[in-house]
Amino acid sequence: MKTRFEVISRDDDRDLVNDPIIKEAGEIIKNGGLVAFPTETVYGLGGDALNPESSRKIYAAKGRPSDNPLIVHIADLKDLPKIVSYIPESAKILAEHFWPGPLTMIFQKSDAVPLETTGGLSTVAVRFPSDTIAQALIKASGGYIAAPSANTSGRPSPTTGRYVLEDMDGRIEMILDGGSCDIGLESTIVDLTEDIPVILRPGYITEEMLQDIFDEVKIDQTILSAASGIAPKAPGMKYRHYAPKGDLTIIAGDTDKVVSYINHELSQLDADDKKVGIIATDETIERYGDCDKKSVGKRTDEAMIARRLYEILREFDDEEIEVIFAESFDCSGMGQAIMNRLLKAAGHKVINV
Ligand code: TXA
Ligand code: MG
Repeated sequence: MKTRFEVISRDDDRDLVNDPIIKEAGEIIKNGGLVAFPTETVYGLGGDALNPESSRKIYAAKGRPSDNPLIVHIADLKDLPKIVSYIPESAKILAEHFWPGPLTMIFQKSDAVPLETTGGLSTVAVRFPSDTIAQALIKASGGYIAAPSANTSGRPSPTTGRYVLEDMDGRIEMILDGGSCDIGLESTIVDLTEDIPVILRPGYITEEMLQDIFDEVKIDQTILSAASGIAPKAPGMKYRHYAPKGDLTIIAGDTDKVVSYINHELSQLDADDKKVGIIATDETIERYGDCDKKSVGKRTDEAMIARRLYEILREFDDEEIEVIFAESFDCSGMGQAIMNRLLKAAGHKVINV
């Protein structure tokens, strides 16, 4: 299959809904084809959420196990009732605060959603993205797009159109390139099918933000701990996601000790002729020896760290880095999402110094 790559500009006053390319992309999805598109979190690989055949194609294009459910994207709150059997009060409150935006909610599904889309589950994940290209495409496609992140299974989620092309060239009909994603990490997932909301995947909408709204919020215990025999409630969270090709280890502890540990390892590996990369910060980068070191930004700038993380992992892949060391980050606020993704990328390999 030849994959079309179309750059969509984001001029403020552009009428994206009537853009001829977006209309064409919508027709592709309505006819059962696949189109990758930007969202404010990461790029999605979209197909018609109500067509079981489209969902099968998504799994095939990603090389993803078909028990891993897809998120259904909508672009109008009025479209929610058709795909869920019940809307709890808590969901209405969250929608008011955070939709459109980087929040996914889990509901009991209605019969309109095929089991192929939900990986066989009786629940459905729904998100209303804020990205204007995503919204226009969803409207042009009939209102419901099933979209996982647009990476091949196991690779870091793509945050630019070029990274989507790297993974999906020849596998899907079209890629809409809308530039870099603002957030850079996948949406926060909250399960609302039980009495107390449960965070299944941390993201830009933080635990603290949800605690400001609800008396009680639970968090899936598998989010920051290594495999403990408990299965995460979001099936996708059990896989070793977001992995770079190089062997990644997180070094945690006092900054001076982290820097000297990594520098020591670096000198050993240098002797073996290994290509080494370091995920450093603005505060530390100058202190490391000669290798492929990259800063994710200032330690205090969580938004920048989130935006840069997957990009850096992909750059290391492009540069065929064999061994990667990463500094560790604070786990409060958005740091929880950053550490969750970094731990998964490292297969939970952490050395405390
Ligand atoms: O930001 C995002 O959420 C991006 C963009 C494209 O919207 N999408 C995304 O999709 O990250 P994906 O497929 O890569 O991750 C979806 C996660 C998986 O871990 C999956 O297991 C979980 O959501 N999930 C989906 N439906 C679920 C359900 N009914 N119950 C529990 N977890 C569910
Ligand atoms: Mg994904």
